[in-house]
Amino acid sequence: MDDGAAQLIEALRGAALIGAEPPDLVPLTGGVSCDVWKLETPSGPVVVKRPLPQLRVVALWEAPVERGTAEVRWLRRAQGIDPALVPEVLADFPELHAFVLRFIPGCPVWKDELIAGRVDPAFAAMVGSGIARVHAATAFNRSDQASFPNQAMFSALRLDPFFLHAARQDAELAPALHGLVHLFSDHGIALVHGDVSPKNILVAAQGPVFLDAECATWGDPAFDLAFCTTHLLLKAVWLDSEALRDAAAAMVSAYAAGIDWEPPADFMARAGAYCAGLLLARIEGKSPAPYMTDDLHKTTVRAQARALLLRPQPLDALVAQWQRTL
Ligand SMILES: Nc1ncnc2c1ncn2[C@@H]1O[C@H](COP(=O)(O)OP(=O)(O)OP(=O)(O)O)[C@@H](O)[C@H]1O
Ligand SMILES: [Mg+2]
Repeated sequence: MDDGAAQLIEALRGAALIGAEPPDLVPLTGGVSCDVWKLETPSGPVVVKRPLPQLRVVALWEAPVERGTAEVRWLRRAQGIDPALVPEVLADFPELHAFVLRFIPGCPVWKDELIAGRVDPAFAAMVGSGIARVHAATAFNRSDQASFPNQAMFSALRLDPFFLHAARQDAELAPALHGLVHLFSDHGIALVHGDVSPKNILVAAQGPVFLDAECATWGDPAFDLAFCTTHLLLKAVWLDSEALRDAAAAMVSAYAAGIDWEPPADFMARAGAYCAGLLLARIEGKSPAPYMTDDLHKTTVRAQARALLLRPQPLDALVAQWQRTL
């Protein structure tokens, strides 16, 4: 056991989550960015999460451990907006960048449901309206802006590895990809989650529960919707599933109904631009989608993403025109 783990166990003891006996920390996943454990406590099961200083991906990718603080802040803020959107934060240990959440039992992650072919457009719509609720509640809120000064971290974890890494691979598209970085920095509007992916959403009876807000920052809310849409469109190609494209459309349309801080057309234009860049980045970037291995799938995504980067479409139109095969 490393020194950090010994300190973490002391902290858990200090918070009366465990007794004198050695805790049975059971790893929850092969997470790339964190140690995540399940722990049984006298008051029920909890999740203990501690960010790793270096992500477990093929390319060397260092990430500041302060992102644990960003996640706790986002979870607490979202809980204040609607407690059903997130697991409750039970304890946090800022000096260790670690924290404890209530474990939500019996809920699969949305990614597993989608891969199993259980694609529910009503649930996708709830994902869209859930993200929109956090954006609407935080839009132009100065106190939220001051609480999430994480743009440098967001650049290191999102803008650089996705857009700028892809720009380095493709000179023709580099100006458009650089443009996305400027678009983001010019639109500090609301609290961004930064990793709204189906693998970070639990399917609970009352609706989606959002996890994994390590990249949370003040920024452009259009990024979050684009990010999740990208995941659904990539999976629509991988699994040749019209239902997944329809789920993306349902999510985008439910989100649009919640936009009350700016003209929806302005938002959709930016979201469409980010989505084009993210689609390309999941093929060419530093963190390629692990299931995008088939050359035909890659070509299908790359060709559409390149065309969209050169002639951007609003996100709703992009989804409507998305082709599973060429
Ligand atoms: N509060 C919770 N209740 C139930 N399950 C949870 C909870 N928190 C996390 N999990 C499970 O643990 C997994 C990993 O959690 P999380 O996404 O926060 O960590 P991560 O290391 O950042 O993951 P990754 O890098 O794989 O995205 C989730 O996908 C989910 O299956
Ligand atoms: Mg995760």
